[in-house]
Amino acid sequence: MGINILATGCYIPEQKLKNDDLKKFIDTNDEWIRTRTGITERPMAGWEPCWYMGAKAAQQAVERAGISSKDIGLIISCTLTSDFLTPSMASVIQREIDAPNAAAFDLNAACSGFVYALDTARRFLETDDSLKYVVVVANEALSRFLDFKDRTTCILFGDGAAAAVIEKSDKLYSSHLASDGTGAKYLCARNLNPAPEVAVENGFNDGFPEKPIHQLVQDGKEVYKFATKALPRAFELAAGKIGITSEDIDWFIPHQANIRIIETAAKKFGVSMDKFIITLDHFGNTSSASIPLAFNEGVEKGLIKRGQKLAIIGFGAGLTYGGIILEY
Ligand code: UT7
Repeated sequence: MGINILATGCYIPEQKLKNDDLKKFIDTNDEWIRTRTGITERPMAGWEPCWYMGAKAAQQAVERAGISSKDIGLIISCTLTSDFLTPSMASVIQREIDAPNAAAFDLNAACSGFVYALDTARRFLETDDSLKYVVVVANEALSRFLDFKDRTTCILFGDGAAAAVIEKSDKLYSSHLASDGTGAKYLCARNLNPAPEVAVENGFNDGFPEKPIHQLVQDGKEVYKFATKALPRAFELAAGKIGITSEDIDWFIPHQANIRIIETAAKKFGVSMDKFIITLDHFGNTSSASIPLAFNEGVEKGLIKRGQKLAIIGFGAGLTYGGIILEY
C-alpha cells in the first residue's frame, strides 16, 4: 500500500539571519559559510513558539487538501525542538487546527524525523481501515537550542515548519528506516536535568559532552563522514526493495544540511545536481522540517508534478537515516 500526499503547507518566520549578521557575534564570514555549507541566510523564529509554526503549516496543508479537519484521524509532529516535554506538539496543533477526532503524538528521529513520521503514518493507514487522513508536521525552532558562541554549529541551522496531509493509495511506495546508535554522542542536546550520579558512576553517560547542557553540540567531522555514507545508503535500501535505480527518480529531496554532502550523494548516484531540490541556501538546516520545506517549495515552484517518482532521503542525530521512494 502506498500513500497519496494530498497537499503540503509551510510556515517560515519573517526574521532572517544572513551570513553577514553572524559576523557581529562570531568570527566568521559569508565566503566561508557559503563555500563550506551552501547557506546564505536562515529564517529565525522571533516570538513564534514551535507549536505555532507547526499549526500554521498544518492549517495551510489542510486548507490546500480541501478536507474537513474533523476527518483527520492522526497527527504526528516530528520535532526535536518541542516547546514542552509534555504535552506533545501534535496535541497542541490538534487544538489549533480543530481536529477533535485525531490521535496525536510526537516522534523524534532528529533530522530524519519527517522520513520516519511519513513512514509511520503510512503504516497506521495500512493497519486501520477507519483512518482517512493523517497530518505529518515538522516544526523546528533550532535557534532556541544553539550556542551562538560556537561558530562551527550556530551558522548551520534555521527555523520553520512544513506539513503534509496524506491518505491511502495504491501508488508506488517503498521505505527503509535505519539508525546507528554508536554515533549518538556525535550530535546531541542534553536534557536540562543532569543524569543521576548512579548513571554516571555506571558509565551510562560515557562519551557524551559534559557541556553545554541543553544546547546542540556536534562533532561536525564525524557527522559529515556519516552523512556522506548514510544519504546514498538510505536511497539504495529503499529503492533496492522495489528494483528502482537513481535513473528512475525524477526528484531527490534530501535532508538539507550541507551542499557538499548532497553533491557527494549526487556523484555517487551518477545524477546531476539538477535532480535535487535545494533550499539550503535560504533556509539553512531546519532539521526535520528541511525535507518537507524543500518538498513544499518544489511543488509551489511547479518542479514536482503529479505522477513523478520522488526519493526522500534523510539523516540526523541518533545517528538516524532513512529513505522513502514514492509516486507523487
Ligand atoms: O543535520 C545534521 C547536522 N549536522 C551536520 O550536518 C554537520 C556536518 N558537518 C559539516 O557540515 C561540516 O563539518 C561543518 C560545516 C560543520 C564544518 O566544515 P569543515 O569543512 O569540516 O570545516 P572544519 O571543521 O574542518 O574547519 C576548517 C576551519 C577550521 O580552522 P583551522 O583549524 O583550519 O584554522 C575551523 O576553525 O574552518 C574554521 N571554521 C570556521 N571559520 C569561519 C569553523 N567554523 C567556521 C566558521 N567561520 N563558521
